[in-house]
Amino acid sequence: MTLEIERLSISYRTMNGIVKAVEDVSFMIQPGQCTGLVGESGSGKSATAQAILRLLPGNAMVTGSIRLNGEELTAYSEHALRAIRGKQIGMIFQDPHSALNPTMKIGKQIKEAIQAHASLTQWQMEQQVKKTMGLAGLGNDLSLLNLYPFQISGGMKQRVMIAVAIVNQPQLLIADEPTTALDAALQTDILKEIKTIQDSTGMSVLLISHDLDLVQTYCSNLCMMYRGRLVEQGPNAAIINAPQHPYTRSLLNVRPKPGQDRTKPLPVIEMEGAFR
Ligand SMILES: Nc1ncnc2c1ncn2[C@@H]1O[C@H](COP(=O)(O)OP(=O)(O)OP(=O)(O)O)[C@@H](O)[C@H]1O
Ligand SMILES: [Mg+2]
Repeated sequence: MTLEIERLSISYRTMNGIVKAVEDVSFMIQPGQCTGLVGESGSGKSATAQAILRLLPGNAMVTGSIRLNGEELTAYSEHALRAIRGKQIGMIFQDPHSALNPTMKIGKQIKEAIQAHASLTQWQMEQQVKKTMGLAGLGNDLSLLNLYPFQISGGMKQRVMIAVAIVNQPQLLIADEPTTALDAALQTDILKEIKTIQDSTGMSVLLISHDLDLVQTYCSNLCMMYRGRLVEQGPNAAIINAPQHPYTRSLLNVRPKPGQDRTKPLPVIEMEGAFR
């Protein structure tokens, strides 16, 4: 799977006029690659992710090219795009509470995701659900499938979201802040699981986060967004060792260094308008 985003711009019509959210963003995800999309709040990460699957609200205006294996997705009909969503491209949404249906049992939600794209026998379906539960770190206790989302912990909910996103073995997983609401230990567990799934299935991953440390551990490539623009991109090590853009340098400078006295305040990020 290759995803090419070229000159993507997104703006919203609002009561106060046009708000530009993403401007002239281009990047590429190669087969099997994990790419991190990093940037501060409001920098346009989720808008970029939602544009890929055409999930932006009605007041959004999008220009540019989004190609999946060379096919122009922006030219697809809504019907054709539905065959891509959840099948070739799986997505974990930023807010698990709104993404899972609170009135539907977990098992039914995973099964519906399968049925949207394939007609399997009951037995085949159960095998698929069991396999996915294992991959997503949900274990093999099938009684979980009879619970509603409110009956399980935040970490388990996040794993159910992952299960729904990967149940059809997508070629690309878009994970929008998949661990922000979780504590540090769980964050690491969940990202390790995504990495394991990636290694065993060969899927590509677009991992969205404002946490450079986290993304850097799991991704081979980084894209840095700042105020709607992609200000820096390339292999992880190259960016960390020789950041070119002031925003990236600021982010790297405020990270605690090994052995640093953590009782001293961290340097403040200078937010200059001149970054753009
Ligand atoms: N429906 C909307 N109407 C108007 N403006 C919007 C809408 N949704 C998002 N925006 C604006 O678009 C910009 C980009 O938002 P986006 O959600 O992509 O940021 P983000 O990088 O994902 O931030 P976060 O880290 O907080 O999730 C922001 O300035 C936001 O206020
Ligand atoms: Mg977001």
